[in-house]
Amino acid sequence: MRYSSMIIAALAEAAVVCGLPVEAAIPPPDATGRYTISAPGIKAQFIPYGASLTNLFVAGKDGKDVDVVLGYDDADYYPKDPGHPVYNSIPGRYVNRIGHAQYTLDGVTYKTEDNDGGNTLHSGTNNWSFRFWNVTALSADSITFAISDASNSSLNMIGRVDASVTYSVTNSTWNIKMTATSPDNRTPLMLTQHTYFNLDAYKNPATPLIWDHTLHLPYSKRYLEADQGALPTGKILTAAPGSINDFASAPNLQFGHSVNATGFKGNCGANGVCEGYNGYWIIDDAPKDAVVLTLGSAFSGVKADLRTTQPGIVLYSCSWMDGSAPVKADQGLSAAQKVVKSSCVAIEAQDYPDGINHPEWNRTSAQITGPGQTYNWESSWTFGLV
Ligand SMILES: *[C@@H]1O[C@H](CO)[C@@H](O)[C@H](O)[C@H]1NC(C)=O
Ligand SMILES: *[C@@H]1O[C@H](CO)[C@@H](O)[C@H](O)[C@H]1NC(C)=O
Ligand SMILES: *[C@@H]1O[C@H](CO)[C@@H](O)[C@H](O)[C@H]1NC(C)=O
Ligand SMILES: *[C@@H]1O[C@H](CO)[C@@H](O)[C@H](O)[C@H]1NC(C)=O
Ligand SMILES: *[C@@H]1O[C@H](CO)[C@@H](O)[C@H](O)[C@H]1NC(C)=O
Ligand SMILES: *[C@@H]1O[C@H](CO)[C@@H](O)[C@H](O)[C@H]1NC(C)=O
Repeated sequence: MRYSSMIIAALAEAAVVCGLPVEAAIPPPDATGRYTISAPGIKAQFIPYGASLTNLFVAGKDGKDVDVVLGYDDADYYPKDPGHPVYNSIPGRYVNRIGHAQYTLDGVTYKTEDNDGGNTLHSGTNNWSFRFWNVTALSADSITFAISDASNSSLNMIGRVDASVTYSVTNSTWNIKMTATSPDNRTPLMLTQHTYFNLDAYKNPATPLIWDHTLHLPYSKRYLEADQGALPTGKILTAAPGSINDFASAPNLQFGHSVNATGFKGNCGANGVCEGYNGYWIIDDAPKDAVVLTLGSAFSGVKADLRTTQPGIVLYSCSWMDGSAPVKADQGLSAAQKVVKSSCVAIEAQDYPDGINHPEWNRTSAQITGPGQTYNWESSWTFGLV
């Protein structure tokens, strides 16, 4: 059912008259379950489940809109999806892996849930990407989602955390701003926005794979070595120009520049089964507000520039996509098309994975938030043509 703007206005007026907070008047989503925000050159749609982005429309080189992110047409399917790949959501309260499912804070060792081969992934059960967030503000170009995470709701993540994410759009740019507090306890807190891209919207007849895209990380020669379970070992490596993990040495490097290289299969672990990328690149010495990553596609002509306050970026090239998920109706060349292995890339600006277990990286204080402190995270994607 679609609520008319008249009813919305009446609800808002009634809320004010009754002295209720204005958020009581936030309208329900549209008939497809989505909230839509837009600005010149960009339209973005969201659902409360995981505070997830479902669709992101920007202009391609032919002037037509391209939906550049993965997702499902049916908003109700997100919570039912058996192979939930954290589609464009906010995982939390501590994103990525916690090594050996434990951490030590202020002298106490906490055992977290082992849900990823001996490690904890995205905080374990009851992670934020599997919950229905509240919409607390909405305008034509901005939406805010909030979550209150009870102490110990995920095993041994102690202390209540209150967090919010504001998505806004302006002039071909998608802005993402998160804040969080932990008023009662010091707790591990590290967030990201976990978007999966295919800038061709699966319409390139030459290939559905992501390897034809270009990728440049101008400040990221260094990356974290990881073990077979994608857990950082502690070692920081430097990618030689032209090597598999090099995206720094030249602009417009093909994302798949090393597809035929020895070691490409297995480059993201799983004893040779994970092909491509599932790792963390450090951003070194980037000027404030610099573009730290550019993803592009000659086929659609779309270019995406990332700016972030975060010290690094996770790249995951969708090796575990098994061809069971459909592409959206506005994507692909036929209704039967599926999300196949290595056909997308998740790009996640975040702090060093498992930094709470690596004091030698000096990230511990950034990854622990307690009473009187506010955690902040900010990124933006600006779209244009290659
Ligand atoms: C997140 O929570 C859901 C629901 O409890 C669970 O099925 C899933 O395994 C958890 N972890 C990850 C990494 O998705
Ligand atoms: C949404 O708000 C309600 C009412 O304040 C609260 O009970 C609920 O826990 C909130 N949901 C989340 C995910 O924080
Ligand atoms: C957290 O919950 C688990 C059960 O899920 C319990 O064993 C543990 O004692 C709780 N920890 C704290 C600090 O309350
Ligand atoms: C919008 O972006 C374009 C391209 O970056 C720029 O030329 C233009 O000045 C911007 N307009 C506004 C209102 O910011
Ligand atoms: C990889 O090998 C295939 C088959 O020989 C070839 O078509 C392709 O151009 C190669 N790709 C790169 C990036 O070298
Ligand atoms: C952490 O700080 C120490 C002391 O300032 C420094 O020697 C070390 O290089 C830093 N580690 C990293 C990974 O930046």
